[in-house]
Amino acid sequence: MSQLLTNQDKRTKYCGEFRADDIGTQACVMGWVQKARDLGGLIFIDLRDRTGIVQLAFDDQTARDVFDLAFSVRSEYVLCAKGIVRERASVNDTIPTGRVEIAVEELKVLSTAQTPPFEIVENSNVRPELRLKHRYLDLRRPDLQQHIIDRAKIARIAREYYADQGFVEIETPNLIAPTPEGARDYLVPSRVHHGSFYALPQSPQLYKQLLMLSGFDRYIQIARCFRDEDLRADRQPEFTQIDLEMSFVTQDDVISVTEGFLKKVFKEFKGIDLALPLPRMTYEEAMNRFGSDKPDLRFGFELVDLSAVLAGCGFKVFAGAMENGGSVRGINIKGGAKFSRKEIDSLTEFVKSYKAKGLAWYKNNNGEISSSYAKFLTEEENAAVVATLAMEEGDLALIVADKNSVVFDSLGALRCEVAKRMGLVNPNEYKLLWVTEFPLFEYSEEDGRYYAKHHPFTMPFAEDIDYLESDPGRVRSIAYDIVINGTEAGGGSIRIHSPEIQNKMFRALGFSDEEANEKFGFLLEAFKYGTPPHGGLAFGLDRLVTLLLGLEDIRDVIAFPKVQNASELMTKCPTPADPKALAELGIAVVADENE
Ligand code: AMO
Ligand code: AMP
Repeated sequence: MSQLLTNQDKRTKYCGEFRADDIGTQACVMGWVQKARDLGGLIFIDLRDRTGIVQLAFDDQTARDVFDLAFSVRSEYVLCAKGIVRERASVNDTIPTGRVEIAVEELKVLSTAQTPPFEIVENSNVRPELRLKHRYLDLRRPDLQQHIIDRAKIARIAREYYADQGFVEIETPNLIAPTPEGARDYLVPSRVHHGSFYALPQSPQLYKQLLMLSGFDRYIQIARCFRDEDLRADRQPEFTQIDLEMSFVTQDDVISVTEGFLKKVFKEFKGIDLALPLPRMTYEEAMNRFGSDKPDLRFGFELVDLSAVLAGCGFKVFAGAMENGGSVRGINIKGGAKFSRKEIDSLTEFVKSYKAKGLAWYKNNNGEISSSYAKFLTEEENAAVVATLAMEEGDLALIVADKNSVVFDSLGALRCEVAKRMGLVNPNEYKLLWVTEFPLFEYSEEDGRYYAKHHPFTMPFAEDIDYLESDPGRVRSIAYDIVINGTEAGGGSIRIHSPEIQNKMFRALGFSDEEANEKFGFLLEAFKYGTPPHGGLAFGLDRLVTLLLGLEDIRDVIAFPKVQNASELMTKCPTPADPKALAELGIAVVADENE
């Protein structure tokens, strides 16, 4: 029974836009039925579009056929309604259009609807799987719809800002050569070249560097990136970067142009005046104070190194960690002595998920001292721990002894967890900082080799270049991350622009000259033809939007996100390929032994 639109059916306003000024005017609206109420001789329909809801009214003045049609209407039907805007008999001040209604004279049912599998309401608590399976319905929910609209606004602010700063928007390819470093690539088979594959870009990194060589000295792209890695609340297999690159610049230039964007987006979007320049902290300081290279500065609980005061102590757990090159560090949870044993046990389980072997604690609750480790230490040692942690009555000390990476990881996560449990994390407060001077390499014990911490094109500190091959662990890089409320919102670096240093870098990463040439010959060759010094940065757009909207899950700012196992529940991809398509590609699928 769907009816068609004609050229006479022109929307005069969106549903959510009607106000008292409109009373007496002729209106034409289109939208979905939120709710239809039949009160005998009266029918009210709440009509919804992306701007809000307006009430349609049908009564004894309404033509019989229009009234009957209104009577047949159900939730989520799509309507076109025309009539006169009039004052509402009973005002509803909870919605902006609550003083008016449309007395309908003409009605068309443009589409009927089955009863949806869940109600289209704000802050729905329906299972995420069901919502994702019917994402097109989920996206009708006003809150989710607003996130998507806000995302578009933020992307537009970025485009405008960078265009004003002289950046040129350039597209780079999505079918590219695989990158041997970084996350796992998504591969795309070539039909023309059997057995050969493109990779989807993890980022436009090399193309944007090559654009600098070509002379486009300010590049920007809102770029889709693909990484085959394990998903988390802040990671998707395909995500979007605000990606930029600049020539003839230092770290300060990239930082300052980026801060300009942040200032604009926080002002226009949140009405917040960011004080510039933003604070900076070296990687080393961030790790020592917060156990993390993306510290959340909205709360304290800084790490304190207890190794010096515990040197030579008799407690095996502490002494053993220090003897093995590790450390003993703790955090003072102000006012934490009220935590029960059960709560402390659950924090112990929490740090164990970060590979800590245990969590030592100490508290002084109204003069009643209890501790999991005090009996293993001398009185002086205990007093020194209490003093070093600046503990006062009512505080709780939480201590981890292990190799440094475990101590940092576990205490870094623990301080955030405790702050969350104590309700100290304010989603409306924003703490931004730059973390700088990252180590150039990261050692993988599993693989027994160094990997680039950022990527292999990052410039080492000039004074550390001599150690590239002899002592890679101590080389710092000109790399910087922008951290917002404990999330890495973006990161970048100044790049290597000399073939000699780039070659050294590849060697340090364990590539033979032949391998480096095979994989990156085009880059090394390009560097020989006059390369401007350059550097850049990429924001994770999804993460930035999530942060600006005060949300926790990046799926809430992506129209069609994927779930944990990288599938999409609506279209059910990935799906097995048609055998004919596989044959054309020269691909045979081997059965998975685990299935
Ligand atoms: P990087 O790998 O740090 O740098 O990525 C830049 C930013 O992208 C976001 N991000 C992600 N967002 C969602 N899902 C993911 N799986 C994901 N992975 C990364 C993060 C991160 O800060 N080419 C370099 C940038 C440069 O050097 O200019 C790069 O890609 O917010
Ligand atoms: P134990 O000697 O194993 O009974 O441990 C005594 C206390 O030290 C307990 O509270 C443990 O949770 C804690 N503990 C054990 N291993 C560690 C560690 N690596 N770091 C900090 N505390 C630990």
